[in-house]
Amino acid sequence: MLRSVVLGTGSALPAKIVTNAELAATLDTSDEWIVQRTGIKQRHISSGFEETTSVLATRAAEAALASAGLTAADIDLIVLATATPDYTFPATATQVQYNLGITRGAAFDLQAVCSGFVYALSVADKMIVSGMHKRALVIGAETFSRILDWTDRTTCVLFGDGAGAVVIEAQSGTHSMSDRGVLTAHLRSDGRHREKLYVDGGPSATGTVGLLRMQGKEVFKHAVGMITDVIEAAYAATGLTSADIDWFVPHQANKRIIDASAEKLKIPPEKVVITVDIHGNTSAASIPLALDTAVKDGRIRKGHLVLLEAMGGGFTWGSVLVRM
Ligand code: UT7
Repeated sequence: MLRSVVLGTGSALPAKIVTNAELAATLDTSDEWIVQRTGIKQRHISSGFEETTSVLATRAAEAALASAGLTAADIDLIVLATATPDYTFPATATQVQYNLGITRGAAFDLQAVCSGFVYALSVADKMIVSGMHKRALVIGAETFSRILDWTDRTTCVLFGDGAGAVVIEAQSGTHSMSDRGVLTAHLRSDGRHREKLYVDGGPSATGTVGLLRMQGKEVFKHAVGMITDVIEAAYAATGLTSADIDWFVPHQANKRIIDASAEKLKIPPEKVVITVDIHGNTSAASIPLALDTAVKDGRIRKGHLVLLEAMGGGFTWGSVLVRM
């Protein structure tokens, strides 16, 4: 059987950092409120329209290729998760493909908001293990700063910009849970919740780009239950448990949601990768950004069992278990 094995990770952040104190200078908020309610201390914000989603995605992809010891010519699939594409079409993935100089294989965007990376990795995994493609770049990239209402303190303090990427390759596995690669993936959505977190514009409905609107409390209420549901599905499918996990790399929306999910799953805090404090919520980019952070600082190593999960607009939610 084939497995999708992670060969490298990479990430990219805009240089500009905006602290809570800077937001509090123009908004009725405080560092204390933001840290207490979310764990966020700062976020990176892209500057001007030169630092687009595709620019960040390309930088993350180049870093992932370098860490894998590969070149762009080795890639025959790009799946890019984003809710903030450069243009309505063509797919931002084709701009990244062009930037990297790739002219073969397939490139497309996938839209599942904050669950985008988990969805993209899961879809790319299926395309790899079916034998359809050999090596994929899976990217989560966002410029949420473009769709924030900067006068709404209930949303604009929460999000940031950035990109993360992984390179996965088809390698033969033994069908056992000690294989390297993606071991299982579980995706869910429930459109009854679509109005709890949405953007109030789009090409077909309004002809505008729109701004993010969220009923934060409502999202919070559902988050921990949905997250634990898909993780328990991953455990049921593999026979693995929280005791087997080396690292938990959750979507970084709110430290309180991460802590409550880890506690419910009995995953100790020292196994949880947290970057929400320095990146804020970067939507589809948050998991590959956190993953790359922990790979770079030496925490996540080859052979480690890593649990990824996300929940966001739609609602969508999902989990992936991967042995690095
Ligand atoms: O990635 C996609 C998934 N998204 C999420 O997971 C987000 C889920 N939701 C959350 O993380 C939290 O609900 C929030 C961080 C958005 C809000 O935290 P909360 O503890 O649910 O606060 P709240 O909405 O109940 O607001 C409490 C108070 C309100 O004032 P009153 O009505 O009690 O007078 C808000 O108006 O805090 C006020 N508030 C603020 N105060 C200072 C809301 N935003 C701010 C702010 N600064 N930025």
